Amino acid sequence: MEMHFKIFRLDPDVDKEPRYQNYTVTADPSERVLDCLNRIKWEQDGSLSYRMSCGHGVCGSDAMKINGRCALACQKLVKDYAGAEVVLEPLPNFKVLKDLIVDMELFFERVNLVRPYLISSEALPQKERKQTQEESKKVSEVIRCILCACCTAACPVTEQNHQYLGPATFVWAFRAIFDSRDDQTRSRLEQLDTLDGVWGCLNYFECTRVCPKEIPVTKSINTIKKEIEKRLHRD
Ligand code: SF4
Ligand code: FES
Repeated sequence: MEMHFKIFRLDPDVDKEPRYQNYTVTADPSERVLDCLNRIKWEQDGSLSYRMSCGHGVCGSDAMKINGRCALACQKLVKDYAGAEVVLEPLPNFKVLKDLIVDMELFFERVNLVRPYLISSEALPQKERKQTQEESKKVSEVIRCILCACCTAACPVTEQNHQYLGPATFVWAFRAIFDSRDDQTRSRLEQLDTLDGVWGCLNYFECTRVCPKEIPVTKSINTIKKEIEKRLHRD
C-alpha cells in the first residue's frame, strides 16, 4: 500500500522556521511507522533525523507525535493509518534539536532528582534482597516504564508549569516508594509533597492514555498522593 507522510522538519542551524515535508512510501500493511521512516531516510532523504534503536518497544527512543498523539513509531502499524495522511512531529513540551529529535536532558535530570533506585541501610545480603509476591506486585506495573517520555510530552500540566516534575518522574518515584526493599519512603514522599510535585497533577489522564507500556500513570500519582496524606499529614 502507498503511505503518505507529512513530517516536521527543523534544522536550527539553518532554518528560521519549522516546515513540513511530504514523502510517499510503499509499505506492507503489517509494517510499522518506524519501517516507513527508515525507508524514507535510507532511500529518499538521508537528512531526515529521528531517534531509534531497538525497533521493538523496549528502548523508548522513537517516541514522537503521530497524527496528534504521542506514541512509539515502532509500535504503530501502517494498516491502522490506511487511506490517511500520517503527520509526524516531535514530542511536544520538549525543545527540538533537529526534525523529530528532542532534547531529553531536563527530562532525565528530573527523573534523577527523585533518586530512581533503591536505597537501603540494611547490611548487604549474601545473595539478592528478597520480596514476597505480594510485595513485588505493588510495583509490577511501574517497572515496565521505558522512559520514552510520551506521558510527560502529552501532559497539559507540564505544558503550563515548566517546573513541574512530570508524570514519568512520579512513576520512578512510585517504584522506589512502594518497593519493600527501600527505606527512604518518608524523604521521598516529602520531596513530592509540593505543587511542582504530585499536587500539580490535575488528573487529565493524558499520561495514562498515551503510555505505550499501559502503565496506570495517573492512578500511580494518586496513590502517591494518598500515601503522602497518610504518612505526612494525618497527625
Ligand atoms: Fe513512557 Fe509510560 Fe514510562 Fe511515561 S510512564 S515514560 S509513557 S513508558
Ligand atoms: Fe526502541 Fe521504538 S525503537 S522503543
